[in-house]
Amino acid sequence: MQMAEQAPMCILVCGGAGYIGSHTCVALAEQGHRVVIADNFTNSSPRVLLRLQRIMGTPVECVRVDLRNRTAVARLFARHRFHAVMHFAAMKAVGESCAKPLEYFDNNIGGTINLLQAMQEASVERLVFSSSATVYGDPERVPVAEHSRLDAMNPYGRTKLIMEQLIGDLCRACSSFRAANLRYFNPVGAHPSGLIGEDPTGVPNNLMPYICQVAAGRRSKLSIFGGDYPTPDGTGIRDYIHVVDLARAHVDALEYVMRSDANLTVNLGTGRGVSVLELVHAFERASGCHIPYEIVARRPGDAAQVYADPSLANRLLGWRARFDIDEMCRDAWHWQSLNPDGYERGSPEVAGPG
Ligand code: NAD
Ligand code: WQD
Repeated sequence: MQMAEQAPMCILVCGGAGYIGSHTCVALAEQGHRVVIADNFTNSSPRVLLRLQRIMGTPVECVRVDLRNRTAVARLFARHRFHAVMHFAAMKAVGESCAKPLEYFDNNIGGTINLLQAMQEASVERLVFSSSATVYGDPERVPVAEHSRLDAMNPYGRTKLIMEQLIGDLCRACSSFRAANLRYFNPVGAHPSGLIGEDPTGVPNNLMPYICQVAAGRRSKLSIFGGDYPTPDGTGIRDYIHVVDLARAHVDALEYVMRSDANLTVNLGTGRGVSVLELVHAFERASGCHIPYEIVARRPGDAAQVYADPSLANRLLGWRARFDIDEMCRDAWHWQSLNPDGYERGSPEVAGPG
């Protein structure tokens, strides 16, 4: 979608120091918008700010704030005149959410309630929200369309579902409030500069960062969770989507909520299912690295296949994913090889083309 008619805006990006938020800051800046990041850095590094500055060519304003701190959030809105908010700030590890459900409900839902209250008080009435394909649970059929049964299967997924419902209720109660719920499938890859990317803490839960760390020599082999699914090669199928495509969709969704009378809930995926083994082989081609693996037991709670019907996002936003799985692997590896230990241990000056 073209942004030609959209005047530059000031956007509050909550969780903007994180993986998807940082890429979206770049996409917003590319369209001439000003971003203010609000983040508590519980799952990100302040070093991302220098990297963003290098990509954007200008310093990025960032406020260290926990969305659960109502006074601090209100202060943020008192200091700036935001046109809209993008809300990425959440804890997102499924396993951890099962062990610490109260923390997940407190952080994700408590933080969102504070944010929505502050928005209302400041008359900021446009929101783009990070939802997830996790709201579909184990889908009855694929590709998954937006009207499919919603069935979150873990506390993390339930927080996403509840936040979607909360935002929906607010839109019904306040007719001038507009929101876009973006249901991401499996975001992977990195900005082509290699300056920003996914930097998980500890052992990665997700497939692509795990593969990257095996390739980098940080882990000895990949455990493939299940080789007996009813899929062509027996391994699980997902819809991997390049984070740069995802970031661009946020700008399109922002423009939609600014100009439209309607709210929006859309899937963001490629519509193409890729198995674990297909991803491993694509990564090997892209990186030239051998990825040793072992097929182990299924991971509890995993579905055999989940991939999107992304046609609604195309119809409403004019958006479609451009990058294929080879490009996702190429950019994930570029980031990993330039930053073998992520942000914290690398110098902000070493990575990237300079
Ligand atoms: P991330 O952890 O890299 O980014 C989230 C950011 O929010 C982090 O910088 C973290 O420090 C910050 N944050 C968390 N709680 C906060 C709070 N209370 N106050 C202020 N800042 C807070 O995660 P990501 O992968 O970039 O995901 C962004 C959003 O997209 C999340 O809401 C996540 O649930 C959702 N999502 C992610 C995926 C995925 O696979 N990465 C898939 C679907 C949906
Ligand atoms: C992908 C495939 C695994 C790791 C999760 C969340 C979801 C969303 C995205 C936020 C599956 C297999 C994985 C490994 C493996 N996040 N795998 N070995 O499970 O589709 O989705 O992240 O909203 O909520 O549940 O992604 O990357 O963990 O797994 O074999 O070491 O890779 O079984 O088939 P998933 P994933």
